Amino acid sequence: MKTQGQAPLWEALLNYRRQRLNSWHTPGHKDGAYTWPSWRQALGEETLGLDLTEVPGLDNLACPGGAIRAAQEKAAAFYGAARTFFLVNGASSGLMAVILAVCRPGDEVILPRYAHRSVFNGLILSGARPVYMETEWLASPGIPLGVTPAVLARTLKAHPRARLLLLVHPTYEGIVPHSRELIALAHDHGLVVLVDAAHGAHFGLDPMLPPSPLALGGDYVVQSTHKTMGALTQAAMLHLREAGTGDAIAAALNLLQTTSPSYLLLASLDVARLQAEERGRRDWGRTVARALRLREKLAAAGIPCLAPADVTGPAASGLDVTRLLLPAAPFGVSGPEIAAFLRRAGQEIELAGPDYILLIITPGDGGAKINSLLKALLALPRVAGRVPPEANGKAGASPGPWTVPPRQVLTPREAWLAPRREIPLKEGEGRICAELIAPCPPGLALVVPGEVLTEEVIARLVCLRGPEGKVLVVDE
Ligand SMILES: Cc1ncc(COP(=O)(O)O)c(C=O)c1O
Repeated sequence: MKTQGQAPLWEALLNYRRQRLNSWHTPGHKDGAYTWPSWRQALGEETLGLDLTEVPGLDNLACPGGAIRAAQEKAAAFYGAARTFFLVNGASSGLMAVILAVCRPGDEVILPRYAHRSVFNGLILSGARPVYMETEWLASPGIPLGVTPAVLARTLKAHPRARLLLLVHPTYEGIVPHSRELIALAHDHGLVVLVDAAHGAHFGLDPMLPPSPLALGGDYVVQSTHKTMGALTQAAMLHLREAGTGDAIAAALNLLQTTSPSYLLLASLDVARLQAEERGRRDWGRTVARALRLREKLAAAGIPCLAPADVTGPAASGLDVTRLLLPAAPFGVSGPEIAAFLRRAGQEIELAGPDYILLIITPGDGGAKINSLLKALLALPRVAGRVPPEANGKAGASPGPWTVPPRQVLTPREAWLAPRREIPLKEGEGRICAELIAPCPPGLALVVPGEVLTEEVIARLVCLRGPEGKVLVVDE
């Protein structure tokens, strides 16, 4: 292979750009010459000139043999994988690709119901059948904690032919399960393990952070490099513990991803890996220290944050301390109300749940910025004795836990492909849902295609869509 610098793809991109060749190929904006003036001014000529395509020397994501391959190999070596794929459609495309490559129609996939919606999309594409593990939830705020090894053991016993285990390491809120035990159990039963580490691309870079799931034995690990590292939005990675199934994964990715991947996205993965390799420990060491100091100052001011001790137990092994979850209850207001207050104070948060807010801290957040956040949080008004209004009336649409778990009578794919009809929610009881309903935030599945709409499900959907709302059902 020719290109083997520190960041082979980024260097190849720069070298190509330096030649200043006249472009008679895509993209049509021709180095930014044909774009709207304010757009050109905002992005700058250099950025637009680097928005290149598969020209000689820049390799091809669909069958890499040059700079992309070298960059992927460096990422694999750094993360301890046998093979790494760069993704230009987020972790979503990696999760779907693995499910599509590993599962055939009817195969059972064991998963927690709080999996990301792309996992359900993978089930629709592959025809696999979901088997849910009972999940433990924190009562307040209402977020999923995880699944215990005992529950997985029971599920494996009841489903001896299951094909794949999907783990979320960590949840959106930064909670990590007992992945080592869960993975070992699944392997003992011959299952393939896919780890959704979309929110854990920085794991393992500091001893205070949870371990990288690759170190825990997962067969496939998907990371949204864009969520916590320096890569551009959409840029993510899929790591394989063993190279054996690489061709099947490549084929699935080629089925799902564009044939015109953005080189800005791809190169951002290359430099994000370089940055992690060269400076990751120092950067994340500082970030963890800053996050811990912020937590201490908030605690001293009577503002509690979700702490590792709040989650650690049979269902969770720890918490990413750089993820800050503040319950809204002490303020007597809802999550969206806090978010609106903070926005007026110049701070935009990651997510406002009905009864909490969530913030992400990375090495991009310096001391002065963190101090300005602290100031805004300390200035949050407290409305004593007030019962917070339900956020947009949607708090009742919580994705769990259920009194009676919804019953799956068709696979998500069968329900997706069946003739469907939109009907009023109030006529829905007993019908089979044909759509995935995963209200944002935080996007957890409320109903999965193929599930029977019970009274309890309908009640939650009414909170979400209103009494006159509609739902797509299988037209039986
Ligand atoms: C747990 C989890 N997995 C996967 C994804 C998908 O990641 P991406 O946005 O990179 O496609 C998300 C997105 O928020 C997520 O929260």
